[in-house]
Amino acid sequence: MLTLAIESSCDDTAAAVLSGPDRILSNVISSQFAVHAPFGGIVPELASRCHIQAIWPVVNQALAEAEVSLLDIELIAATQGPGLVGSLLVGFTFAKALAMVLDIPCVGVDHMAGHLLSPLLAGRRPAFPYTALVVSGGNTSLFTVSNETTLTRIGRTRDDAAGEAFDKTAKLLDLGYPGGPAVSHAAGQGDPTAFSFPRAWLDKGNSGNEKTNLDFSFSGLKTSVVNTVNQFRQKDQPVPVADICASFEAAVVEVLVKKTIRAARQNSHTRIALGGGVASNRRLREELSRHCREQGFDLFVPDPILCTDNAAMIGLAGLHQYAAGKTVQPDADAYSRSPLY
Ligand code: KG4
Repeated sequence: MLTLAIESSCDDTAAAVLSGPDRILSNVISSQFAVHAPFGGIVPELASRCHIQAIWPVVNQALAEAEVSLLDIELIAATQGPGLVGSLLVGFTFAKALAMVLDIPCVGVDHMAGHLLSPLLAGRRPAFPYTALVVSGGNTSLFTVSNETTLTRIGRTRDDAAGEAFDKTAKLLDLGYPGGPAVSHAAGQGDPTAFSFPRAWLDKGNSGNEKTNLDFSFSGLKTSVVNTVNQFRQKDQPVPVADICASFEAAVVEVLVKKTIRAARQNSHTRIALGGGVASNRRLREELSRHCREQGFDLFVPDPILCTDNAAMIGLAGLHQYAAGKTVQPDADAYSRSPLY
């Protein structure tokens, strides 16, 4: 089945064409980095307006690269949520309208489902079940992936997402936007043991539920970094940017890696998958690989283009949703919070 997929949940306008569930014919992403960079973060209204400008050219490029015509498309899949509602409405409404004109079915896809299934688009693919860590600018969550449509969240961040913490640290240190790659680059020149920033293990959760300890929290770490930077600034001393970045990155990565391994153990899974924009972080990839190797887990990390927001993963999740009989009607609305949460 030839599927056109559209993703517009945040600041990337993306379109892909898939043949069947896992053959990617094209995967186009138009980034808005330059638009949001002067503001040090995403401005939702600007994001929506940029999606309006980009959506038609991006879809046309995806069709051209796939060497198919719009009339060949048999299914349209678009992200329905979660994300910025103004952004979502552009892609989702565009998809529903196109499906109506072409008289073909349309599915509304959960963005998280896309991230969780994206390892199935990679060269080396995990068998079910697997434990997945999705770590991006808006999410830091652990999931049990039982099959293509049974996705159960077992841990989540209680405050900031890890990517958000990277972005805020970059802003504090005037490293620019997006912050993750900038902090990671600076960290490469620093000493990860220079500062001992806090790691939130959350083992004494109020519920007393053992699974509570699969949650994350990065607000204490963020405050600690702010306090450290302020101490230097108040004394008019140069801020040791590289050491702060390296120590911050080490703190984030240690918690992500240990909780992911813990989740896989609790699930009795032997396979672990990693997704989301922060999956591009070199230290995270290296540390998770090392722990998996040492402790007998098989790790699956797709290429960066499949980890970051993209439409190919939406097409894959959409096709499985279509097979399960879940299509949307023209009046279906976008949602800001995932029902998988
Ligand atoms: O999944 P994604 O592309 O989209 C959103 O969540 O919107 O993730 C973007 C996030 C940003 O917070 C960015 O700073 C972070 O991923 N990121 C990184 C790296 N590359 C991107 N964080 C740490 N290290 C990186 N190398």
